[in-house]
Amino acid sequence: MRRFLIAGNWKMNTLRQSGVALAGELAAVAAHEEAGVEVLVCPPYPYLLPVGERIGGSAVQLGAQDVYFESPGAFTGEIAVEMLKDCGCRYVLIGHSERRAILGETDAVINRKVRAALAGGLTVVLCVGELLAERQSGQTEEVLDRQMEGGFSGISEAEAASIVVAYEPVWAIGTGRTASPEQAQEVHAVLRAQLKAATSHSDRISILYGGSMNAANAAQLLAQPDIDGGLIGGAALKAPDFLAIMAAGSVSA
Ligand code: 13P
Repeated sequence: MRRFLIAGNWKMNTLRQSGVALAGELAAVAAHEEAGVEVLVCPPYPYLLPVGERIGGSAVQLGAQDVYFESPGAFTGEIAVEMLKDCGCRYVLIGHSERRAILGETDAVINRKVRAALAGGLTVVLCVGELLAERQSGQTEEVLDRQMEGGFSGISEAEAASIVVAYEPVWAIGTGRTASPEQAQEVHAVLRAQLKAATSHSDRISILYGGSMNAANAAQLLAQPDIDGGLIGGAALKAPDFLAIMAAGSVSA
């Protein structure tokens, strides 16, 4: 059974007050788990605790946007798996394209993070996606294959079931240019086939779509057979928009 997940990646946005207020608006609606849809918010690190407090008792889950792979120690500026769990996180995003492109994260680093997070009991949202130039030169499948291989390498069969994949075409992130439902479905089907070849638990691994998903286009994207939810950036910062996407999700779940 695949989970249907609507996840908000707040990136480096909100301050404490605005983040807690946003969380409160979501928690008020998602008081209980609705129609099989899981809801997740990933605020910046400093707001994990106050946001976690605000959503406590509701169906909204807490996640972080990144993690470091080492155990607590002398790693200035980094955050350990234990710390995220201590703050109430159940999920962590790993391998977001902004971390790959801006912070220089390689598939090898991402793999170490995935393994550490799974070993610590977190559910990993592994982000993959091709650049525009890669799509235009017909390399989409090859790029995804490399990123998936990198992410899943060395993961046990049991651990694989605690991974969620997020397909986020880089050309669609923050650009207002969404993949069409057909384009997204086509890639999700490729990812599904890759998962089948990689693990016997592929039927438990959800694949989210991310990239300019909003209140207007969510229903069509989420209705695709291999799209099991969304990872939302800009539209996750406005409660009415995110709530509309959650509602579209509960129709499709
Ligand atoms: P946007 O929804 O702003 O395009 O961002 C998508 C994303 O990167 C979520 O992780």
